[in-house]
Amino acid sequence: MEDPLLSLRGIYKRIDGEEILKGIDLDVYRGDFLSVVGMSGSGKSSLLYIMGLLDRPSEGRVLFEGREIDFGNEDELSKIRSRKLGFIFQFHYLLPELSALENVMVPMFKLGVSKEEASHRAAELLESMGLKGKERRKPYQLSGGEQQRVAVARALANDPAVILADEPTGNLDSKNTEVVMEIFLELNRQGRTIVMVTHEEHLARRTSRILEMKDGRIVV
Ligand SMILES: Nc1ncnc2c1ncn2[C@@H]1O[C@H](COP(=O)(O)OP(=O)(O)O)[C@@H](O)[C@H]1O
Ligand SMILES: [Mg+2]
Repeated sequence: MEDPLLSLRGIYKRIDGEEILKGIDLDVYRGDFLSVVGMSGSGKSSLLYIMGLLDRPSEGRVLFEGREIDFGNEDELSKIRSRKLGFIFQFHYLLPELSALENVMVPMFKLGVSKEEASHRAAELLESMGLKGKERRKPYQLSGGEQQRVAVARALANDPAVILADEPTGNLDSKNTEVVMEIFLELNRQGRTIVMVTHEEHLARRTSRILEMKDGRIVV
């Protein structure tokens, strides 16, 4: 079998004496669509943040593309985050003063992509999200579902190896939840690796693998 894209080995996370993650071992392979389910407070977000190199474990190792991550090397962390990882959160965190197009361009600027190229790619991504004609709108001029689709386009800006999504539909009505879920399924069909935290069982059932967390541990 091919090497995992992302591996966690013996991950513990402790905050203020509380043990939030208690020995997590996990391999994510290219092309996986993994959902992480479990009750509120079970450690799903904490796990996703460590997978996304946004937080460091108290103990244990994270390997990305076979290389162990050095959590002391902020330069390396930020390089991997911006080149290889795409994040989507429950709240879109779009920049309110920028247009949809500009919001999608921002991550590309971090990698030194020219303005012309960034603008062209951002327009293509927005079109693929069904947002053609709305490129110039500011986030407040878009519906909640549209805002989240801009956030998905932004996460795809640098063609990441993996999409990490924390309750991406948590703030959407059922119609928009379905639209975003269909986009995720299509991205996965195209080969994109996705890890999605959700508390909606019916969404988890449509992914290729379900991981259930309970009290800081993986139970299935
Ligand atoms: N920054 C933090 N400081 C203190 N406690 C935290 C912090 N982040 C998470 N926790 C605690 O860790 C546990 C797991 O949280 P979290 O990973 O957010 O769970 P989930 O996403 O499954 O709801 C909870 O008990 C939460 O209160
Ligand atoms: Mg959470």
